[in-house]
Amino acid sequence: MIIAVDGPAASGKGTLASGLARHYQLPHLDTGLLYRAVGQAVDGLEDDPEFEAAAIAAAQALDPSQLDNAEALTAARAGVMASKVAVIGPVREALFEFQRSFALQDGGAVLDGRDIGTRICPDADVKLFIRADSKARMERRARQLEQRGQRVDRYALYHQIEERDARDMANPHGGFYKADDAVLLDTTQLGIEAALQAAVAIVDEALASRNRV
Ligand code: CDP
Ligand code: CDP
Repeated sequence: MIIAVDGPAASGKGTLASGLARHYQLPHLDTGLLYRAVGQAVDGLEDDPEFEAAAIAAAQALDPSQLDNAEALTAARAGVMASKVAVIGPVREALFEFQRSFALQDGGAVLDGRDIGTRICPDADVKLFIRADSKARMERRARQLEQRGQRVDRYALYHQIEERDARDMANPHGGFYKADDAVLLDTTQLGIEAALQAAVAIVDEALASRNRV
């Protein structure tokens, strides 16, 4: 069983994907971490004429099974850098195979990101597209960063998320949209538990209807 979970920054897709993975006892891959790791590898090189080449080389050299330093990867800066390398076609190509193999492992998997339902797993058994309004997403991300001891300027964070969303939406190599067969789940008014219950209900219904066919 492959479950694809997509949505914009801080919509809650990662929390939901890991909750679904626990519920159905499936492995989980946060695909954003791959882009964050590549972004981190070329941080500071944005104005370098070799930026694209360096990002492609970093993506090709990345061993996704060895991602460490997760704390630094979750920083807002790594998210911004991730969205800058994510517009480079060969970076996406270099990261494709690992994601695809992860999805196709025996027993299935849960993957979350931006293009899981559209590009990585167009054949997923269940697709969820998570949304939440911009203010709620900013507030969630702010609290998450504060809990990790990072200082947050909410005004700057709001604009940073908006800017990253805009770059993501315009990504010519993206697929950053809701797949036609994805179920939309708005978590603006939902806490983590309520969102998970709603997602489990959607997955159970999708599995039941598949078994009826
Ligand atoms: O993966 P994504 O960036 O979409 O978001 P996340 O990391 O799952 O969630 C961002 C923050 O919002 C986390 O600290 C979650 O605990 C919190 N959250 C929430 O408050 N309510 C939800 N329904 C989902 C997540
Ligand atoms: O957790 P949050 O949604 O803030 O970010 P993330 O999922 O870690 O993704 C960081 C950035 O990586 C996104 O803004 C995208 O530009 C890129 N990304 C992507 O291009 N494709 C994916 N499947 C996942 C992330």
